Amino acid sequence: MTRWAWILLAALAVAASAALGWQQIGLSSRGNWFETNDAAVLAQGRGIYDRYCASCHGTKLEGQSDWTKRLPSGRMPAPPHDATGHTWHHPSDVLFGIVKEGVGKYAPAGYESDMPAFGGTLSDAQIRAVLAYIRSTWPREVQQRHEARERAARGG
Ligand code: HEC
Repeated sequence: MTRWAWILLAALAVAASAALGWQQIGLSSRGNWFETNDAAVLAQGRGIYDRYCASCHGTKLEGQSDWTKRLPSGRMPAPPHDATGHTWHHPSDVLFGIVKEGVGKYAPAGYESDMPAFGGTLSDAQIRAVLAYIRSTWPREVQQRHEARERAARGG
């Protein structure tokens, strides 16, 4: 084999291992990672969103108006789930935990929130489906940034 062929092979090997590392979190069966292109799951997630989430987070995932400012009650409004919000800042386990158990676990003691816990209403699969639907509405660039945070949360 010529020298160039070896260099080409080495480059291919590096590219292949990078692709494999990427795939590890792309697998929907890993933890609560909820990426999917399955149209049935996304349709199910959309139905759940419309029924259980849209009243606060908005039918277009736009959140409550002035969502960065506290309500008269002292609590925070519902943030958007579209690319303008910070839902995509959080790794999948955190998002899953917030929907299942509410924000309490991730907030300082005594923090009061209007975000309900859905653990008694939605199954784990339904929670992942609604998160998959939310993710599917993000532009590719935001999905990639979310994936980078997911990888960081899993220790790279
Ligand atoms: C009664 C209103 C209400 C409903 C219904 C509701 N939420 Fe929320 N949600 C909130 C509020 C308010 C917050 C902000 C929490 C805080 O900071 O106190 C929030 C926060 C969140 C967050 C954290 C977002 C972030 O950027 O930190 C996620 C994720 C979330 N909600 C998902 C959902 C999903 C999914 C549903 C439907 C299954 C849902 N919520 C239904 C009010 C609601």
